[in-house]
Amino acid sequence: MVNEAGFRTVQSSQVILKELMVPSYANFGGKVHGGVLLSLMDKIAYTCAATHAKAYCVTASVDSVDFVNPVEVGELVTLFASVNYVGKSSMEVGIKVISEDFRKEIVKHTNTSYFTMVAVDEETRKPTSVPGLILQTDQEIRRFVMGKLRKQLRAGHRRDIADLRKTLDRVRELQELDGENCQLGKHRN
Ligand SMILES: CC(C)(COP(=O)(O)OP(=O)(O)OC[C@H]1O[C@@H](n2cnc3c(N)ncnc32)[C@H](O)[C@@H]1OP(=O)(O)O)[C@@H](O)C(=O)NCCC(=O)NCCS
Repeated sequence: MVNEAGFRTVQSSQVILKELMVPSYANFGGKVHGGVLLSLMDKIAYTCAATHAKAYCVTASVDSVDFVNPVEVGELVTLFASVNYVGKSSMEVGIKVISEDFRKEIVKHTNTSYFTMVAVDEETRKPTSVPGLILQTDQEIRRFVMGKLRKQLRAGHRRDIADLRKTLDRVRELQELDGENCQLGKHRN
């Protein structure tokens, strides 16, 4: 739904994607490659963000992805995606992944992750503004606020990493190697 200000509801861009895990997705041990799930997550993040923005979007960043349970061949994987937070041109899409084994009647939580998608003008390739979100439930308010705070944490983290890189010189690098599981080999430049 869209209101007169052009704001859209969270529900109007929510997406569910189901995919059967076939043998070509798996390693020799029958476990599905993490990259297969990442690809599905990227696909649903795009669908959800582009549905909200009604614009072309790119993946700007993906928060850490921790797989808490393995997924096996023959299981049905379901992904749920929802726009949590909207900035000027960016959107945080929350994605929950579960897998189901029908024979054993087991449903496992595989992971929950956050993708930051940015709407981009197709001609200029520059970020373009996206519609605001209409928040209709307590959960949507909480998710929006958490999304806003995560956006600040991500920006801080990017700055910290950039600052850290500037503090590195050869002396500091060699100090940091002390006690680590590595040894210096023949030096190459
Ligand atoms: C993402 C991208 C469009 C940002 O462009 P930019 O010129 O740096 O944009 P800005 O600094 O103006 O930021 C635009 C928005 O993106 C967000 N953003 C930029 N870099 C980000 C990052 N690394 N992580 C999360 N959000 C990011 C900003 O917070 C801002 O959000 P807001 O408008 O809601 O406040 C640009 O870096 C890009 O095109 N990257 C390549 C994306 C891509 O090709 N992905 C697929 C890889 S295969």
